Formats: sequence, structure tokens, C-alpha cells
Amino acid sequence: MPNLKIFVATVYGGALDVAEQISPLFEQAGFDVEIFEQPTLDDLTVERPDVALFCISTTGSGDYPGNFMEFANALHEKGADLNGLRYGLIAMGDSSYDTFCGAGRKFDALLQEYGATRVGERFEIDAMEDYMADEAALPWAETWIPELKR
Ligand SMILES: Cc1cc2nc3c(=O)[nH]c(=O)nc-3n(C[C@H](O)[C@H](O)[C@H](O)COP(=O)(O)O)c2cc1C
Repeated sequence: MPNLKIFVATVYGGALDVAEQISPLFEQAGFDVEIFEQPTLDDLTVERPDVALFCISTTGSGDYPGNFMEFANALHEKGADLNGLRYGLIAMGDSSYDTFCGAGRKFDALLQEYGATRVGERFEIDAMEDYMADEAALPWAETWIPELKR
């Protein structure tokens, strides 16, 4: 069974909610799913998953949430060989900020810098438009799963 690791970056729990709401869809599609609320770089590199999904909200002025700092700083500072890693990315933010989805966008670029390949487009959820982020994420996940199987 292929495995999918979901890495969550959240302040208020919205990104974790999204991860928890969409994970049954992946299970139904045959993935073994694990959600990481306090992720470390080793979770991605030492036991590399078949697919990684990042659910990243933005705080401060385009900053990573605290629970994701260790992971993100480790990748920014040490780097990693991510060639061949396939991933998806859900970025959550609020378009009233100039730094809309800044953390998700920054991390997306970082993953690609180290050789990872994003499957599909980055999905951005705007709190100004989508009050219920999980309701926006479910249809996205439904279209993303077939892209993974290609
Ligand atoms: C103090 C604070 C700072 C924020 N800064 C940003 C920001 O720079 N860019 C952005 O797009 N959204 C920003 N947001 C909006 C959050 O990213 C958005 O509400 C998100 O859905 C929160 O997700 P969470 O529940 O997983 O923490 C900020 C929210 C707060 C409360």
C-alpha cells in the first residue's frame, strides 16, 4: 500500500482540520495516511513517503506557524536531497494580507529548490472567501488523487 504523509503547519488548527477532513479520501483511494502535527525533517527524509502533502497556513507577515518552524528552518538551513519526491501543497491564508499565503508559497519554492516535484497546482485557500476551509479542500483532494495515480 503506498503511503501518504500529511505535514501540517497551523496556529489555530484550521490546517489540521483540513488534513483530518481530507485524509479519509486518500484512505479510500488505497493510501496509508499519517498526519504530522509536529513534523521534523527526518519524517520527510529518513522515512521518505511515496507522496507528501503539506497543509500550511501563514502567520505573522508571511511566516511559518510555530509548530512548523523546526521543520522549515532545518530545510532552509541544511537542505536535503528531495529528488524524486512527489508532493502536493495546500496553502492557507487571508488575502487582506500583502503576504498572502506567504509561508505556503515560500515552502513550495524551497521543496522545488531541493528537487521535489509538485503534482498538480498549489491549492490556495483564502479565509476571506472560504469560511470553511475543509469544504474548499475536499473537492480539490478529489481531483488531486487521480493526478497522483497517473
Ligand atoms: C496574527 C495573524 C497573522 C496572519 N498573517 C497572515 C499572512 O501574513 N498572510 C496570510 O495569507 N494570512 C495570514 N493570516 C491568516 C491565516 O493564515 C488564516 O486565517 C489561516 O486560515 C489560519 O489557519 P490556521 O487555523 O491553520 O492557523 C494571519 C492570521 C493571523 C491571526
